[in-house]
Amino acid sequence: MKFKEKLKESLKGIIPTDLLDKLPSGYSVIGDIAVFRHLNPKVDAYKKMIGKHLILIDSKVKIVVEQVDTISSYRKPVIKHIAGEKRTTTIHKEFNTIFNIDLEMITFSPGNKNERNHLVQTVSDNEVICDMFACIGNLSLPIAVNKPSVRIYGVEWNQIAFDFLKQNIEANKVDDRYFPIYGDNRKSTPKNFATRVLMGYFDIDYNQFKCALEAIQIQGWIHYHSILPRDNLEQPLETVEQARNESGHKIEIKEIRQIKKYSPRLYHICSDIFVEKC
Ligand SMILES: C[S@@+](CC[C@H](N)C(=O)[O-])C[C@H]1O[C@@H](n2cnc3c(N)ncnc32)[C@H](O)[C@@H]1O
Repeated sequence: MKFKEKLKESLKGIIPTDLLDKLPSGYSVIGDIAVFRHLNPKVDAYKKMIGKHLILIDSKVKIVVEQVDTISSYRKPVIKHIAGEKRTTTIHKEFNTIFNIDLEMITFSPGNKNERNHLVQTVSDNEVICDMFACIGNLSLPIAVNKPSVRIYGVEWNQIAFDFLKQNIEANKVDDRYFPIYGDNRKSTPKNFATRVLMGYFDIDYNQFKCALEAIQIQGWIHYHSILPRDNLEQPLETVEQARNESGHKIEIKEIRQIKKYSPRLYHICSDIFVEKC
């Protein structure tokens, strides 16, 4: 039975019948914490009840929260407690990788799971990767764990995310191959060393794209994330077009992949860009 049907069954006679159809149809799970996004305001008064029943229905879940927003360039989530213990720290496991995380401090998108898998499948042996928006290792730690010959340099400027990144590098025993760099990626991204650059952020500026180009040693891939209208996913990326004219690199967008629906009209996409020094 689907989650919504189970929840309706469980809450029949407890909440007004006309609200049963307004119950959420899904949630994401990070570690042992269930996260609701976009709860229908009509069920506001019954959130605690919904949370308690979710914990009864799904034995993995110990805590239920609602993520109401994500703010600032640190992408800090705004979290409201709904049910269960009052903590926001948890340990999430995915693709053999351990992520220690505090959901109140750090963004971790379950919707990027396919992208994490795609990267593990795509990266070749002995590559050297630069993750310019490393956070706690969201995109790059699974590569380090599952590809033992790959080296990774992860840049992060939020001290809290950086501390979790270091903790997760230790927890996954990849400290001989994953090198965390604290600072603004516009100043701290090393040059001429990488075969692949991950740019998992939605407001990439021209300087950052130039740093990604400069990070590539001879030739390689840049995975450039953005949010675009679903009816115009091929729309040119301004930073990339500017670099094509000014940088002296050969820049080819080989594929545009849909990562997830971001809102009814917008998609999170990743452009796979092959670059070569001329
Ligand atoms: C939205 S998170 C994304 C994490 C991961 N890349 C992903 O795609 O799932 C973006 C991370 O980039 C970091 N960040 C943003 N601007 C940065 C900059 N100029 N230098 C270094 N880190 C930056 C933020 O602090 C945050 O931890």
